[in-house]
Amino acid sequence: MKTLLPDSIFGRTMIVLLGGLMLSHLVSFFIYYGHREEARKAAGGYAIAQRIANLARLVDEAPSDWQQRIIAASNDPSFTASISDVPIVTDDSNSSVALSVRDYLAAQLTSAGQHLPQPRVATLATENVASDPHPEDAARSHRHGASHMGLGRSVDALQVSMPLKDGDWLSFVAQFPSETSSTSRQLLVAMAIMSFVILGLSAWLVRSVVRPLDELATAADRFEKDLSAPPMPVNGTHETRQAAQAFNSMQSKLRELIENRTRLLAAISHDLRTPLTTLRLRAENHSDDEDRDKMLATIAEMNMMISATMQFAKDEAQPGPRRRTDLTALLASVVADLSDNGLPVEMAPSPPVIYECHPDIIKRALTNLIENGVKYGGSVRASIAIATSSVEILIDDDGPGIDFAELERVFQPFYRIEGSRGRETGGIGLGLAIARSAVEAHSGSLTLHNRQGGGLRARISMPT
Ligand SMILES: Nc1ncnc2c1ncn2[C@@H]1O[C@H](COP(=O)(O)OP(=O)(O)OP(=O)(O)O)[C@@H](O)[C@H]1O
Ligand SMILES: [Mg+2]
Repeated sequence: MKTLLPDSIFGRTMIVLLGGLMLSHLVSFFIYYGHREEARKAAGGYAIAQRIANLARLVDEAPSDWQQRIIAASNDPSFTASISDVPIVTDDSNSSVALSVRDYLAAQLTSAGQHLPQPRVATLATENVASDPHPEDAARSHRHGASHMGLGRSVDALQVSMPLKDGDWLSFVAQFPSETSSTSRQLLVAMAIMSFVILGLSAWLVRSVVRPLDELATAADRFEKDLSAPPMPVNGTHETRQAAQAFNSMQSKLRELIENRTRLLAAISHDLRTPLTTLRLRAENHSDDEDRDKMLATIAEMNMMISATMQFAKDEAQPGPRRRTDLTALLASVVADLSDNGLPVEMAPSPPVIYECHPDIIKRALTNLIENGVKYGGSVRASIAIATSSVEILIDDDGPGIDFAELERVFQPFYRIEGSRGRETGGIGLGLAIARSAVEAHSGSLTLHNRQGGGLRARISMPT
């Protein structure tokens, strides 16, 4: 059931509207048609009753050898009369049309001063009543439920038996004037046009109600990719204006928060440089050679950390504009730079992959990952490919990999695995944090996996 419903608010609202509209049209169609049928029968019944009363009077007063001729002359396909010694109507109907026709005919008899039995009237609802040579059968089928709802091919008819002075009965089967099918067709066409107009207007209205929701989703999406995205327009209904305002203020507060954090990081790193320079000058004048070298090495390491931190802060604060970039060429240039320096790095050939990104930041991320592979894994193979909805970049090395428990922790800034501390590998533990933040700024993901045959695989996946 759930899967049958459309996925959007627009689709669901339209289904509800369409269902409601069809139901209301159907109900009003039946009510209207019922009333129309009643009115048509009442008018038709009155005309038939008058004709019957006149003919009955004429036959009653005519000499008996004329009676059959008059009857024969008055018959037509929708009106047949016959004389018999018993009434053909055995069962009086109680429908409103039958009752009023009977009252009318009885009044005619009374006004003529005749004291005869009551006329008998039945309504029939069956096919081709007038051409039925056995009206009794028609009456029977009516009694057995062959009535209809006023729709379709059936024809309504009146069956009347009038008493004559000589004791005989003059019986009639008369059809109501049938409704032309063109009126029903006109009604259906009018209803269809009305439905289309109402549905068109509703679609336009629902669309305008739902549009702000789409805009909100688009704005949130844009902000995720670009911190400096412009605020979303504040318009529409009271509620959508409120939602847009709330979103804009959240966006500006978040931006402020991130900018403050980055500014603080940059300020601390920057201000640490001056005392470090002083410290370095003092250390250089230290008399003990061994102590002096150690102090200078530590100071150099601190300087490196500060530079890296400042670079990180700078990348976050002003990533520069996004550009359409060939990621394959970018990866190839990083690989070429490193292998030109004699490092064991290679890349699988691949067709160009054009992607809109901040190339400097992505390049730094790729460099960090490949350098890690060389430092901790010996040799590196890089590859790039387009998957169904993403670009996949893989950096594989042949090293020992990383313990499962450490796989996520190594992304924390300044975190280094014990074994690599103090090794001549040098790093400060910011490389993976920088790489992940770069990839996430492009709505992508960076994960590490231990490969089955040994070695580590870093996987970058960026949505296309
Ligand atoms: N390919 C790898 N194989 C094994 N261990 C790795 C690999 N890449 C990273 N690591 C481990 O994860 C830690 C964090 O890596 P990260 O790149 O963040 O810092 P770093 O390389 O130590 O220093 P930096 O990159 O800032 O110069 C490393 O110290 C290392 O122990
Ligand atoms: Mg590193």
